[in-house]
Amino acid sequence: MELELQSLEREARQLLETLSDSHGLEEFRIRYLGRKGQFSTILRKLGTVSEEDRPRLGLLANSLKENIERLFTERLTEIQSSSGANEKSAISLDLTLPGRIMETGRLHPVTQIMQEVCAIFENLGFSVAEGPDVEQDYYNFEALNIPAHHPARDMHDTFYVSDSILLRTHTSPMQARIMETRQPPLRVIAPGKVYRCDSDITHTPMFHQVEGFLVDKHVSFADLKGVLTVFTQKMFEQELPLRFRPSFFPFTEPSAEVDIACVICGGSGCRVCKKSGWLEILGSGMIDPEVFRMVGYDPEVYSGFAFGLGIERIAMLKYGIDDIRLYYENDQRFLSQF
Ligand code: DAH
Repeated sequence: MELELQSLEREARQLLETLSDSHGLEEFRIRYLGRKGQFSTILRKLGTVSEEDRPRLGLLANSLKENIERLFTERLTEIQSSSGANEKSAISLDLTLPGRIMETGRLHPVTQIMQEVCAIFENLGFSVAEGPDVEQDYYNFEALNIPAHHPARDMHDTFYVSDSILLRTHTSPMQARIMETRQPPLRVIAPGKVYRCDSDITHTPMFHQVEGFLVDKHVSFADLKGVLTVFTQKMFEQELPLRFRPSFFPFTEPSAEVDIACVICGGSGCRVCKKSGWLEILGSGMIDPEVFRMVGYDPEVYSGFAFGLGIERIAMLKYGIDDIRLYYENDQRFLSQF
């Protein structure tokens, strides 16, 4: 037993010198010094040796164990203080670490385009008016010459709040709201949110439109063409050919949908313009005499034009974005590009 004790002490001492981290030390403590450790195991066997040898072997075993315990504590302190020192110097002295970049926020691309569109029309003498998102059926439909049960109501998948209150499906109600309270001449744009029960890669249930209208004496379709030509040139920063396609809206007569030559292929035909060379960007027309009558303007005296455009769509064409839902997923990788 004496030999066994001495060789155990030697083995433990040598092993201790090779250990360099607290994890290894903990394993060591359990293996040699713990309650089930090797020294304890030998001490428990003392009961089996002769009474004569027991005191001497007991003393020896205890003193060897204490020896290892002392060396263990010394090693532990050494390792703890050296790793602490390393950590400290790394924190306070590593001047090569890059600085922390402060993220700056920016305006959402839809807001940016909205502001750009408004600025272009303001430079053309239009003033900005905002109206309610929760709208009366009267302004959204009736005042725009879309009576109840008119098939044109099917063009709008409307969210109703009650029988006569709804989320506006377009910004056109602002035509009636403004004309009701002011007299011509008028040059107004009305930007804002609109809502339709619709969702796919080109539709979101909420999107943004800008409505524009001009009312005066002797306003002609040529004025509409002139204003929209200037707008598209400024917006897309190039002289794009425009195309007016006959269309139908109950509140304009005649009505036209306006296309610009495809900004991606220049008109030769590509995936974005579906090989047609044209991109539809807005609806427009001469304000219907019926709309004037409802707000008390004399259609024999006044004429005017109106147009409505979708902001998300303009931004998609300008930046070549192919999925409208990207605007509303809050993905920084997308948003930080604008
Ligand atoms: N309000 C129409 C829509 O959302 C767009 C529109 C078409 C507005 C023709 C107009 C217009 O002012 O003249 O579909």
